[in-house]
Amino acid sequence: MDFKAAVANEIISALDAAFGGAAITAEEIAAALEIPPDTAMGDYAFPCFKLAKLLRKSPMMIADQLSGAIRADFLSKVEAVKGYLNFFIDRATYAEKVITRVLEEGDRYGADDSGAGKTVVLDYSSINIAKRFHIGHLSTTMIGNALYRLHRFFGWNAVGVNHLGDWGTQFGKMIAAYKRWGDHDTVAAGGVDEMVKLYVRFNQEAKDNPALDDEGRMWFKKIEDGDPEALEIFNWFKSVTLKDAERVYDMLGVKFDSYAGESFYNDKMQPVIDELKQKGLLIEDKGAQIVDLQDYGMPPALILRSDGATLYITRDLAAAKYRKDTYNFDKSLYVVAYQQDLHFRQLFKVLELMGYEWYKDCEHVAFGMVSFGGESLSTREGRVVYLDELLTQAIEKARAIIDEKSPDLEDKDEVARQVGIGAVVFFDLYNNRIKDIDFTWERALNFDGETGPYVQYTHARACSVLRKAGETGGAKPDFAALSDPFSQDVVRLIEQFPDICKSAVNRSEPSMVTRFCVDLAQAFNKFYYENKVMVDDPGVRAARLQLTDAVRRVLKLALYLIGVEAPARM
Ligand code: ARG
Repeated sequence: MDFKAAVANEIISALDAAFGGAAITAEEIAAALEIPPDTAMGDYAFPCFKLAKLLRKSPMMIADQLSGAIRADFLSKVEAVKGYLNFFIDRATYAEKVITRVLEEGDRYGADDSGAGKTVVLDYSSINIAKRFHIGHLSTTMIGNALYRLHRFFGWNAVGVNHLGDWGTQFGKMIAAYKRWGDHDTVAAGGVDEMVKLYVRFNQEAKDNPALDDEGRMWFKKIEDGDPEALEIFNWFKSVTLKDAERVYDMLGVKFDSYAGESFYNDKMQPVIDELKQKGLLIEDKGAQIVDLQDYGMPPALILRSDGATLYITRDLAAAKYRKDTYNFDKSLYVVAYQQDLHFRQLFKVLELMGYEWYKDCEHVAFGMVSFGGESLSTREGRVVYLDELLTQAIEKARAIIDEKSPDLEDKDEVARQVGIGAVVFFDLYNNRIKDIDFTWERALNFDGETGPYVQYTHARACSVLRKAGETGGAKPDFAALSDPFSQDVVRLIEQFPDICKSAVNRSEPSMVTRFCVDLAQAFNKFYYENKVMVDDPGVRAARLQLTDAVRRVLKLALYLIGVEAPARM
């Protein structure tokens, strides 16, 4: 039962009865319904000033007349207060309908097919080749993964793209360094770290020996010209980096449908450049080719350098077109740090100037910076936190806590993995994405705070209650037993879950789901503290067990949507 819709229908009928109807639809009314901050004011409130113009009456009068005209079994009371109509849903009916729906719909609770037939392309993670995966790429990876799952939940066809940073002069330098000082076995064994070492040495030695830079340029040109040796080394570097990254992706449970990165667009930029020219958008500026964006308050988009080299935005233009042509997306999301805000505003503006209406479907999903223990991360100063090391440490720390709290637990390693990684992911997705975040172990791993482990622990507690009860118990639940404020708070949160997921998708804001997890966990723990579940009365017991079951399912589902696992025992 959709209470919002049911309340809206009651208002429509009352409008007919009291005023002979009004030019407003049930959907419009449902959209205008508010949830009062305090349940003493009802479960839903309708602001009658929305009707004042239509009916040419004061909101107060409208509320009074409508309240007299509404009678429905699922409502225990309707009150007119200061131009608002406050609806009180019958507690037992409310609990019954909400819980029954969760138990019936299971993993699909809250899901619908509003995205059916639509495609979203998500550009996330998009790491750089020959660099180690550090926590600077955690947010893009996890926000992207959550948005991927959330879209699928609503029936979208989602395409996850890892737009690899695999293009640039640094790769020429790296090959030059490798040819001079590197050898196959060392790089094969040392992975990305060895490549970085070669690159650092190259830059140091190039300070005294400028000829090295020419060598770097030569190798870069060779890559561009498709020289077999250059390509072979370059592709090998790429596969070594990806192998490292894939280990991290496996740990995080993240997947992609495409790894088409910057170099993929080598042969797809010329048509875009020609098109820009033909549309009169490309102008010459000191030998370079640019699109002037002065009228829009932005610096020019640099399309071709004076030496003819293409740029980051040139590749993104080709990529945007390619994605439209290939996937015919309805929505194209770029999950990239807010530092690149200007880049994406320029990109979307150029697409608009090219006459592509679908520029409107492109969105930069920006997020803030991650620091660690108050220190910002800088590769240059060597203060880098590598993601695989962070995750491994998280698992070890979780393991230590589990050893202490639950020495008899089976599968301690597996649970430590789920909790450690879950803590990092949850922490990353807890705040509004645009906020900068400072990662600390104390806050991420705190079992009592607003953390992943806390939510996982609550889920495991619900599982344990149900396990101990054996069954939810054959008896017919007495839903009136869930009329107390603690049970009702749990029910209300569960009822809001579908709307919360929908808003999370619409605003590209997974943190709404993360917050929900904490709210529901807290409400359930309060309920559990205040109400004994295993009481003698079979009807009361069955109702409380069903509520516990609904919480367990919704927590697991919500955690899944943000990319966090939910162990059944902790
Ligand atoms: N590789 C870039 C970085 O690490 C992010 C790429 C984002 N995607 C894009 N289509 N520009 O900063």
